[in-house]
Amino acid sequence: MNLLRASSRRYSLLPQGAQAFVAGKWTPSESGAVFDVVNPYDGKLIEKVANCTVKDAEQAVHSAQAGLQLWTHSYTAKQRGAILHKWFDILGQRETELATLLTREQGKPLAEARGEIQYSAAYFDWYAGEARRTYGQVVPSAVPNRLHLHTREPIGVVALISPWNFPTAMIARKAAAALAVGCSVVVKPSEDTPLSALALAQTAQEAGVPDGVFNVITADRERTAAISKFLCESTDVSAISFTGSTPVGKLLLAQSASTVKRVCLELGGNAPLIVFDDADIDSAVNGTMATKFRCSGQTCVSANRIYVHKKVHDQYVEKLSTAMKDKLVLGNGMDATTTQGPLINQRAVDKCEILLSDALGKGSELIVGGKRGDHGTSYHPTLITNVQPNTQIAHTEIFGPIAAVQKFQDNEEVLNAANDCRVGLAGYIFGKDTSRLQYFARRLEVGMVGVNEGLISCAEAAFGGVKESGIGREGGMQGIDEFTNWKYICTQY
Ligand code: SIN
Repeated sequence: MNLLRASSRRYSLLPQGAQAFVAGKWTPSESGAVFDVVNPYDGKLIEKVANCTVKDAEQAVHSAQAGLQLWTHSYTAKQRGAILHKWFDILGQRETELATLLTREQGKPLAEARGEIQYSAAYFDWYAGEARRTYGQVVPSAVPNRLHLHTREPIGVVALISPWNFPTAMIARKAAAALAVGCSVVVKPSEDTPLSALALAQTAQEAGVPDGVFNVITADRERTAAISKFLCESTDVSAISFTGSTPVGKLLLAQSASTVKRVCLELGGNAPLIVFDDADIDSAVNGTMATKFRCSGQTCVSANRIYVHKKVHDQYVEKLSTAMKDKLVLGNGMDATTTQGPLINQRAVDKCEILLSDALGKGSELIVGGKRGDHGTSYHPTLITNVQPNTQIAHTEIFGPIAAVQKFQDNEEVLNAANDCRVGLAGYIFGKDTSRLQYFARRLEVGMVGVNEGLISCAEAAFGGVKESGIGREGGMQGIDEFTNWKYICTQY
């Protein structure tokens, strides 16, 4: 029996199985190859997915070029906005199905997956409105009888290369902005989580996104490298938008140089979280829980280096350990009580073990957790303190559920430590002295700061980093900058 057909019956979100979505049609790879997508909790096969080739990617870009002409020129901003709004409605109506699929392939708890679908939908809602606010400018001329007009033009076909940690939301954040301004897209989802991307394609079609405007090509790890290189080097692709690791971002940036492409990169973080001596400790603990354990610590905005003032250190560690023991439940994402799903793969678990053993070997103290779970790639939420600056964990993006605490005494010393880093995505500060909070908010070398707040991501705000955390912003009104070019029109009258 055809495996694609057999498995497809399980989801109306994948009506013809896990095939690529090109020019509005579900298509197998020209190679006929498929690859396995497994549930990280139990290692069981979920689907066999089309393993696309560069030739398939060429077809997708072709399709996106045709879609672009239609979408840019035959649809008004208002019509594009209306379709995005319908897409928002559909995500709301199909939240349970989408979240269930997401949990199965990514592992995050169902409640968190629902939150991700709502988060994704919020981008369609926001950019449905922004489509009509893609304003230009009229600039007074220095000479008589001349009109200077600045308009924003869609940049063209955009390749969206998306990660596995937020398999729906990271596509939504990019695609909603790109589509709002009239671009068409080719999505290349992570090989670990292609099903959510395909499900999103199904909802795009239901919303009335025309054929060719939203394309998805899926591929395994091996083929992904060649496809990404092709997308970066293609003269028919005008921009690359990537979320993922800093090393891969650098590679894509280099590969895009030959065509002088617009590149938007959301890369790694190593977020400092600072708790000052005047902080409300309950609020600092709530904020830490929110940023550290969301998606089992697998987010680029996760608190990675936790600096706590000596005076409040013991109280903070005690309250955080109580909150972790009381509130965090490791398990199968499909169980209602689970708050912590598995990590994405074995490499992620191994990395936690290596970092932890190095830290403990160099004087850190284990307070909670510190071991693998009983199933699949699970890892227990972990708290260590007395982390020494010479440990790997103090400098590495953990991307797992380990809260690593360091003590500090002096403000300038902690600011220097926080900024002593080649990446700068998010930072968090907890305290009451507004002058000090403002000083730190301005001096931290990061793109986003949470002040007495651990959960900062939202559709209305500009998400992005400085240094090697990336280039460009996603979300907010800034998100459309990545997908538009300014055009200057000078008219003599
Ligand atoms: C990410 O980890 O890549 C994004 C997280 C977010 O949007 O909050």
